[in-house]
Amino acid sequence: MGTHLEHGPNVLDPRLIQKYDVAGPRYTSYPTAPAWNDQFTADDALNRFQAAGRVGADQPLSLYVHLPFCRERCTFCGCNVVVAKDSTRVDRYLDYLQKELNLVSKALGDRRTVSQLHWGGGTPTFLDVEQLQRLFGMLTEVVTLTPDAEVAIEIDPRVTRPEQLDALRALGFNRISLGVQDVDHEVQEAIGRHQTLAETQAVYRHARALGFGGINFDLIYGLPAQTSETWRQTLEEVIALRPDRLAIYGFAYVPQVKPHQKRLNLYDRLSGEQKLGLIRAANETLSRAGYAPIGMDHFALATDELAFAAKNGTLFRNFQGYTVRPANDTVALGVTAISDVAGSYVQNDPALLRYYAALDAGRLPTERGIMISDDDCRRRQVINNLMCNLSWTMSDEDRIYFQPELERLQGMVDDGLVKIGGDRVQVTELGRLFVRNVAMTFDAYLPRQTNQFSRTV
Ligand SMILES: C[S@@+](CC[C@H](N)C(=O)[O-])C[C@H]1O[C@@H](n2cnc3c(N)ncnc32)[C@H](O)[C@@H]1O
Repeated sequence: MGTHLEHGPNVLDPRLIQKYDVAGPRYTSYPTAPAWNDQFTADDALNRFQAAGRVGADQPLSLYVHLPFCRERCTFCGCNVVVAKDSTRVDRYLDYLQKELNLVSKALGDRRTVSQLHWGGGTPTFLDVEQLQRLFGMLTEVVTLTPDAEVAIEIDPRVTRPEQLDALRALGFNRISLGVQDVDHEVQEAIGRHQTLAETQAVYRHARALGFGGINFDLIYGLPAQTSETWRQTLEEVIALRPDRLAIYGFAYVPQVKPHQKRLNLYDRLSGEQKLGLIRAANETLSRAGYAPIGMDHFALATDELAFAAKNGTLFRNFQGYTVRPANDTVALGVTAISDVAGSYVQNDPALLRYYAALDAGRLPTERGIMISDDDCRRRQVINNLMCNLSWTMSDEDRIYFQPELERLQGMVDDGLVKIGGDRVQVTELGRLFVRNVAMTFDAYLPRQTNQFSRTV
C-alpha cells in the first residue's frame, strides 16, 4: 500500500470506524434512487407535472438541465456522462431538450416562475458559446427568472474558455462551481484527470473578475494515491485562492454500478481510517482558514449566504447540493435528470437513444420514479433536518411514531455520535463524520438495498 496517513493528536477509535464504515446512501433524496421503480410510467410523470402546475402560478420552481457530454471519461467519475469528441452532437441534444421542454411546460400550465436555475453534467461548458446562448434562450422563452434567482453552472476548468464565461455572465449566470478534485500530479495520474493549477487559477480569476458569486470548488477525499501530505498541499493551494465554497466529497467507489472504476489501481485505495483522517484534516485546515462546515461535506466562508443559513438553521438540500432558496418542486430536463415534483421523484432515461426515441414518440422520457408516501415524507423530513442542520426537533407524535428508530439510535448516543435531550436529537461534532449513518437509522428501505451504495466513511 503506497499511502500511510499519520494519526492526528485526537486519534479516532478504530472500532468506531470499523462499526460505521458500511455501504450507505448520500441522501440527496429520500426514498433513495434504488427504491424507485419502472412501474412509474411517463403517464404518471405527466400527471405529476400537471399537479405541480395546479399549485399556483406564483410558486417558484427550481429548474435543472442535465448536459451529459464530456471530452473524456475520468476514471474516478461516478456521474452519468456521454463521451464525445466535439460539440457537434450537442445541437441534436438541444433539439430534444426543446421537445422535452415543450411537453413539460404544457403540463405545468401557467406555473413558469423559476427561482433557481442549475446546469449540471457531464460538462456544461462542453457547449460552445452559441449553444450556451441557444439553451438559455430556449428556457427563458418559457420560464421567467425571479429578480434574485440563483443561476448556476458546473464548470470543468480544462474545457472552459474565457469567452464562455463572458457569455454566461452576460446571460445572467451568477453562481459557478469548478471541478478541481485534487491538484496533486500523482493523484491526477491515478484518477485519469490531468488539470494544472494554472488552468484552475485562470478560470477562477476570470470568474471573479466577471462578478460571479458563491464560487465553489469540488474536491474529493479518499482518491487513490492521496496521502496526508498531498492532501495538505492540495488544501493549501486551494485555500490560497479563497473560493467562497468548497464541496469535499468522499470518494464514491461503486464499480458494481460504474464498471470503468475497475480500472483504478485497487492497491492504492484508502481504508476507512485513512479517509476519515483526510476529512478531519480538511475540517481543521478549513476552519483555521475561516470556512464553516455546511451540513455534510460542504464548507463556506463566513461571508457566504450558505454559512449564514447553516447558522440559522435555514439550509435546504436538493439534488444540486445545499441551498438557501427552497422551491417546492424541482423540474429537471435532459437524459438521466431527476425531477422532484408534486410528491414524486421522476427520473429520465439515462440512455441517450432511448431518451430521443421517447421524445420522438411524443412521450416524456421517464425511466422510473416513485410516489412519495406519507411515511416517506415524514422520514424525508427527519433525514433532511439531520443532513442540513445536524439536528431534528421532534413533536410528541414523532416520538411515538419513531420509537423503534429512537431506540436504535441509542447505540450512536453511547458512541458519542448523537445526543438526545428533551425533544431534540443533535448530531455531535464527532457524529458529523458519520451523519449518513445517523440518517440511515430512519431509512425504511435500507435492509433490501445496501449493495448499491458507496461506503459511508
Ligand atoms: C458531474 S461532476 C461535474 C463537473 C465537471 N464535469 C468536472 O469534472 O469538472 C460533479 C462533481 O461530482 C463529483 N464526483 C464525480 N464522481 C465522483 C465520485 N466517484 N466520488 C465522489 N465525487 C464524485 C466531482 O467532485 C465532480 O466535480
